[in-house]
This record gives sequence, C-alpha cells and structure tokens, in this order.
Amino acid sequence: MDASQGSRVVLITGASSGIGKACAELLVARGHVVYGTSRQPPAVEARGFHVLEMDVTRDDSVQGAVDAVLSREGHLDVVVNNAGYALAGALEDVSLDEARRLLDTNLLGVLRVCKAVLPSMRARRSGLIINISSLGGVVGLPFQSMYSASKFALEGLTESLRQEVAPFGIQATLVQPGDVRTRLTENRVQALQSGPGSVYRERFETALRVIEAEERAGVPPEDVARRVLEVMEDGAVRVRYSVGKVAQRGAVLAKMLLPSRTFEQLVMSLYGLSRS
Ligand SMILES: NC(=O)c1ccc[n+]([C@@H]2O[C@H](COP(=O)([O-])OP(=O)(O)OC[C@H]3O[C@@H](n4cnc5c(N)ncnc54)[C@H](OP(=O)(O)O)[C@@H]3O)[C@@H](O)[C@H]2O)c1
Repeated sequence: MDASQGSRVVLITGASSGIGKACAELLVARGHVVYGTSRQPPAVEARGFHVLEMDVTRDDSVQGAVDAVLSREGHLDVVVNNAGYALAGALEDVSLDEARRLLDTNLLGVLRVCKAVLPSMRARRSGLIINISSLGGVVGLPFQSMYSASKFALEGLTESLRQEVAPFGIQATLVQPGDVRTRLTENRVQALQSGPGSVYRERFETALRVIEAEERAGVPPEDVARRVLEVMEDGAVRVRYSVGKVAQRGAVLAKMLLPSRTFEQLVMSLYGLSRS
C-alpha cells in the first residue's frame, strides 16, 4: 500500500488535551488506528482512540508504550511528537532545574520517542515522524527563552534527523503552530524566581498578558490537526509546515526579509516592550 494512502497506525504523545487530542480525534475519524498517550490515562477510552500511559521524561515509560503498540499492531506508521508545555519568566529568573525539566519534556522527550520507534521503522523501511514545533521555534519569544530554546533545538534535531533516516525510507518533519487555544496557557509554568521581587516583574507581566491573550484568541487545535492530516497525505514531506493566523505565519517570512534589529523591534512592540 502507498504510504500516503489507507489506514495507518499512529502514535500521538500528549493526546489528553489540546493539539494532541484534536489530532487523535481527527485521525480516528479518518479511519486511522490511533494510540494517544497521557501521563494519566483515563480509565475508559475516549472518542475511539486507544489511550496509553506515557511520560516522555522516562525511558522505560516511552519504550513500554511503543512496545505495546508494536505488539498489538505489528508496526507503527506515524508518530506525532506533541507532548510539551511552556515555561515563562526572564532567563535570569529561570533555575537550572526548571530549564532541565522543560528540555527533558519538550526536547529529550522527542529523542526518547524517536529512539524507541526508529528500529521498527527502519526494519520496515517506512515511517513518518511529525514533530510539533512552534512559531517560538523560529522567533525568540520574550520571557519564554527556555521554551523557545526547546523548540529551536527541536527544529535543528528534525532537520538533522531527516537527512539521517531518508535512506531507510523514513521521513521527518516539523509542524509550527502559531497561537492555539489549548490548556497550554493554564498549564504554563512560571519560573519561581519570576514573582514579585524580580527586577523583570513589570515587563514580564506586560509580556505575559499579551502572550495569554494571544493564545486565548488563537486558532482552535482542530486547525493544527487538519495540518497534521495534510502532512500525512503529502507524498514528499516538506521540512516544515506552518499553521495559524496569517499574521503569525507571516512572522517567519518577516524574520527572513527584515533587518534583524527591525524585526526584533517589531516583536518587542507586539509584546508591549521597548528597549529602554
Ligand atoms: N497552544 C499553543 O499556542 C501552541 C503553539 C505552538 C506549539 N504548541 C505545542 O503544541 C504541543 C501541545 O500543546 P497544547 O497546546 O496542546 O497544550 P496542552 O493542552 O497543555 O497539552 C499538552 C499535552 O502534553 C502532554 N504532556 C505534558 N508533559 C508531558 C510528559 N512529560 N509526558 C507525556 N505527556 C506530556 C499532556 O498530557 P498529560 O498531562 O495527560 O500527560 C497534554 O496532553 C506542545 O508541544 C506545545 O509546545 C502549542
């Protein structure tokens, strides 16, 4: 069967809410066999997709979930690396532990999942890995430095991975959403040192108000799910696909075209910030 056709076995990390859940529901509705993961799976399976326990920060948990899919289905066609969260606060206020926890989920979580799925994909000489990046993986977002760092790193990881696995018939790609209305906003961790007493507090609060308002006015997660489906149906998978409001998608182009300080000024003004 052509890899772009027919029912495929899909694993989606972080499918308990937001983008992951929307992807799982859409792909099931399109006839795919979907396994979604959560650190705390519900007792009953939701909306027709299978739910597996997986904490992407634990090697054994990742391997266990991947093994469960392989033993039930015999193979895995598509992986959507989606699990992740946001960390906010001035870089100076972020502790090393807070940064490590974020990178362990958003970046090393992807590494763990890739290492678990690639052997079986290589053996079949077929597979597609879709990594959910962010506009924050292209543009450094103020007061979200470690989140941006995790997504910039994911961009590099994916560009490299693509070139390594292509000879084995495996494709990898990035989906870059702008702001999306999900629980990411409520689940955002604020650096402990970023509270009252931080020298950055006032500017951080100004930027955070914009960040949260933009996310709440963002596109629905179903838009990202439709993009993921398009990627799955694309025969020759591109390096990256953006999704979101036109103005936000345009930021990627603006970054390429504008002088760097002009673009930076634009980003700062969008977040209510100035250089002084
Ligand atoms: N919302 C946006 O504006 C936006 C924009 C660009 C990119 N993104 C990216 O989209 C992805 C999904 O975020 P979302 O917006 O859908 O947020 P969300 O509603 O908060 O969902 C996050 C998902 O990640 C899972 N998760 C978190 N930590 C995990 C861990 N250690 N192991 C396994 N699963 C974990 C959660 O599952 P459990 O808690 O059940 O384990 C949950 O299902 C993230 O990578 C995020 O960076 C979001």
